[in-house]
Formats: sequence, C-alpha cells, structure tokens
Amino acid sequence: MTQTENLPTYPTLTPAELRHADSLKWTLYGGDVIPMWIADMDFPVAPAILSALRERMVHGLGYHQLMGDKTLDGLLRARLDTHGLKDLPEGGIAMLPGVVPGIYAAVAALTQPGEKVLTMTPVYHPFHLSITGQGREVSAVPLLDSPDGYQIDWDGMEAAAKGTKLMLLCHPHNPTGRVWTHDELEKLRDLAVKHDLYVLSDELHADLRFTDGPFESFAAAGRVQSRTITVTGPCKAFNTAGLGIGVMIGHDAELVKKVRAAAGGLMGHEGALSVTMWQAALRDGGPWLADTVDYLRANRDFLTEYLRQHLPAVKFYPVESTYLAWVDLRDCPHAGDIQKFLLEEAKVAMHDGPTFAPEEFKPQTQGFIRLNFATSREILTEALERMRKALDAAQ
Ligand SMILES: Cc1ncc(COP(=O)(O)O)c(C=O)c1O
Repeated sequence: MTQTENLPTYPTLTPAELRHADSLKWTLYGGDVIPMWIADMDFPVAPAILSALRERMVHGLGYHQLMGDKTLDGLLRARLDTHGLKDLPEGGIAMLPGVVPGIYAAVAALTQPGEKVLTMTPVYHPFHLSITGQGREVSAVPLLDSPDGYQIDWDGMEAAAKGTKLMLLCHPHNPTGRVWTHDELEKLRDLAVKHDLYVLSDELHADLRFTDGPFESFAAAGRVQSRTITVTGPCKAFNTAGLGIGVMIGHDAELVKKVRAAAGGLMGHEGALSVTMWQAALRDGGPWLADTVDYLRANRDFLTEYLRQHLPAVKFYPVESTYLAWVDLRDCPHAGDIQKFLLEEAKVAMHDGPTFAPEEFKPQTQGFIRLNFATSREILTEALERMRKALDAAQ
C-alpha cells in the first residue's frame, strides 16, 4: 500500500464535520452514506484563499473591476503561458460566471439548431446537455478500452467529424482521467484543420495532474489557435465550486467576443469574492496545490492497489489526472443497477456510468461508476471496505 507518512493529515475530515447543511455532496443522500459522487474535494480551503477572502470582505462587497481585473488578468496570462497559451491578444480573455456557461455559449455561437456537434463518450455530461438542450445533435465517438487505458477511436472521429462544425474536447478528460498526449493532441489538431472545425477545449482539470512535465493546451499549436476557445477555472484544482467563476480564452479576440455575445445579458458577471479567490489561488496557492496533488496521487495508488487485491473483477486504469475514477464493474454482481446497489447495500454514493453518455450510448456505460476519491484516506478506505463487503455478499 502507498506510503502516507509525508502527506498532509486532515483531522477535521470526519463525516460528522463534513455533513453540514450547506454541502450538497454530503447531504443529498442519507446520513449513513459516504458521498463519492459530485466533483468536490473534502479538503479544507487553502489558507491563502481564506485570508484573501477575509481581507476582501473588509473592503465591502460592491461591484469589482467589471471592465477587467488587471491583477487577475496578469496572473492568468502567466499561468496560461505555462500551458502553451502564449501571446494572447487584448480581448483574448473573457471572464465567465463558471465553465459550463462557456460551453453552452460556444455551442450557441458556433453552430445552428439541428447541426451536429462532435465529442467523445463517455464525457462530462453538460457537454451533451449543452448540445441537446440547445436543439443540436450529439455526434459522439466512444473511447476505446485498450490494455493501456482509454484511447481515441481515430477512424470513428474521422467519420463523425464529417458534417460537424464544432468539436467539444475535455482535456484532461472527465471521467477517464486521461491527459491527452502531445501525439494525440497533434492528431486532434489535424482533424480540426482538415474538417474546418471550431474547437472548445475544456481544460478545467489541467492543474490536477499526476503526469510529468508541463500541461499542453490544445491551442498551444499555432495552426489551431484561430479556431479554438479554451475554457477553464479554479474550481477543480482549488476546490472552490461554490464561488462560481471561469474564463474563456482565445487567440482570436473576435471569436471570443462572438462566443461571449451569444449569451448576451443572460450570462451575468463573475462575483467579487470569486475574483479575489482566483487571484489568491494563482498568486499564493502553489504549495497547497502541490500537497493536494501528492495526496490525491497517493489515494489513486491506494485505490488501484485495493481494487487489484480485493476486487479483482473490477477493472480500473489509474487516472493520469484529477480525482475522478472511471471504474468498470460490468463483471460484478448487480452490474445492471450497480449505482443503486452500491448506494443501498454498501451505503456509498457514486455517479452512475450512463450519466456520462448521450442517449444512444447509455447502455454501453451501464456497469461503470465514477468514484470521487478526493477525501481522507480513512474515509476512502471505509468506502472501499463497504463496497467489497457488499459485492462479496452478492456473489
Ligand atoms: C470538465 C468539467 N467542466 C466543467 C465543470 C463545471 O465547471 P463550473 O462549475 O465552473 O461550471 C466540471 C465540473 O466537474 C468539469 O469536470
């Protein structure tokens, strides 16, 4: 099992402390259930963020710099530079009240009702919802399950790209945890150029990586910059989803303007506290983030080893990023209603696989669950023990 001696300890991470009335994650299910579903981490907020928020409140809560916060803009540009998003023009950064509104705006601005939008499946479900909810059609290509983990079906992407104008890319990929490699990104870029596609690249999980080296944005290559909108935010890396904020980034300021305009006044502005929070995260949150990534990596390794030793019928490829594990229980008892079974019998709540597939591909994802392992080692161990006992008893 993975060493934990050098990792932070979280004495306050007990179910009793975590189950407060404001937490959706901890209150949706019954009091005896361990929640491992929605993408929130159980860890406390970074001290640097807390002190910046306290300080901000002293100055009142009026409108913040609505015409553009120079401090946040500068910090963001420096961070994005490390992802390969260099030399962004003036107007190349537009704030959002969250990442999902940016996905919806891109679908609205860059496609017409009735048109197809290309994506992979499974994928973070608002991808499909932003397409079908706005009268467009999903053109989804299932990821291939190979001995090395989930891979892109290039022939499938090539066929599905025909007749589409927009590709929605999730990089790193929720829920498989893949970080697309340079070679994969190059092939995706070729596909976008060949089929003249716009690309919306959701890179929200980029700072929670277990891979070596810097993160490579899809739009790090010049040949796709004029056709790409990147969206990201602090809410996964810094666990701040309750303070909605995000950003839309593009090398073509006109494209950014067009996508932003599609939402018009419906979008609303980002909140003052969320701006303060993101400034503090980018300026002073590095050590907290590094500790958190270490803890998550150790939890991932523990989970991998636990499943290998105690639940050999369960298939899982260790994720390369983020804290969401895409776990294949199709060979287990109750695969046909696995989420319900684990909720009722193991008292562990996870996302059901079909959530992450568009309608026609839901049957292929039955038997999968998405397990959120961003919690203390003690709670993770308890949840896995509960799953093991329930599955053993059902044999
Ligand atoms: C890939 C991805 N994009 C967007 C979001 C949500 O972002 P926001 O809450 O800023 O809309 C999530 C949340 O888990 C996500 O995993």
